[in-house]
Amino acid sequence: MFRTKKKRHGTGSGNGSNPAGTPALHMRDVHRTYDTGAGKVHALRGISVELAKGSFTAVMGPSGSGKSTFLHCAAGLDRPTDGEVLLGGTSLAGMSQNALSRLRRERVGFVFQAYNLLSALSVQDNITMPLRLGGVPVDHEWADRVVRQVGIHDRLDHRPNELSGGQQQRVALARALITRPDLVLADEPTGALDSHTSTQVMELLRSTVHSMGQTVLMVTHDPVAASYAQTVLFLADGLIADSLDAPTPETVAARMSRFGSR
Ligand SMILES: Nc1ncnc2c1ncn2[C@@H]1O[C@H](COP(=O)(O)OP(=O)(O)OP(=O)(O)O)[C@@H](O)[C@H]1O
Ligand SMILES: [Mg+2]
Repeated sequence: MFRTKKKRHGTGSGNGSNPAGTPALHMRDVHRTYDTGAGKVHALRGISVELAKGSFTAVMGPSGSGKSTFLHCAAGLDRPTDGEVLLGGTSLAGMSQNALSRLRRERVGFVFQAYNLLSALSVQDNITMPLRLGGVPVDHEWADRVVRQVGIHDRLDHRPNELSGGQQQRVALARALITRPDLVLADEPTGALDSHTSTQVMELLRSTVHSMGQTVLMVTHDPVAASYAQTVLFLADGLIADSLDAPTPETVAARMSRFGSR
């Protein structure tokens, strides 16, 4: 099984339901098969992975290798056909849809390629939306730390369309962090950004790992973005085919070429 190592100690993140030593994410022999009219598609064929709390992992692989399915199963957005997913020690197996959506709201933060901000709401209201949906009061000290960390504290009253792409992605990241989730899942977070802004967003993601003890799992096609992670997992045909610690853009690109382009 693939295990990530925690490289540094975080300070004060976590929601208290994740005792030391419990992985932020544990997947045991996860399979996901789709029944289509044309036959069965084996999107995941036995994924086993443990992400230590405070680790930063990138997932790469050719188109169709199962990256999004992997992320969706980790988040409880999709159910494995076989195997088990534990989030912060809690098994998702057998949970009702309601319980799963609550768990997602409280314990998973999402960052997407398209920032998915609500244009009618201010930056501040976008960031605190997950708390309002859950009826949870805002912890102002934490909220202040989050907006300062992502550098958006002087834009709280703006609307998303008054911000640059990079600023919008930073708001999305603040929204993902506001609940102190067990896991932040990012699906191509820099896919819509130019390289300068990508660098800023990746540095920010890395700093949430290092200074807030956050756990991040990120799908990317970009070797430079992947090099910010501590570990890169390479998916091929629904399996973890390889992994690389302490990646650089060069070592990632060299390894990717073995698995074909996207
Ligand atoms: N809802 C679905 N029904 C049927 N097949 C699906 C479904 N979702 C995904 N698949 C198939 O499962 C496989 C893995 O898909 P997935 O979306 O996880 O790939 P990916 O690695 O994210 O690719 P990309 O880089 O193009 O986003 C593909 O063959 C895809 O066609
Ligand atoms: Mg995908």
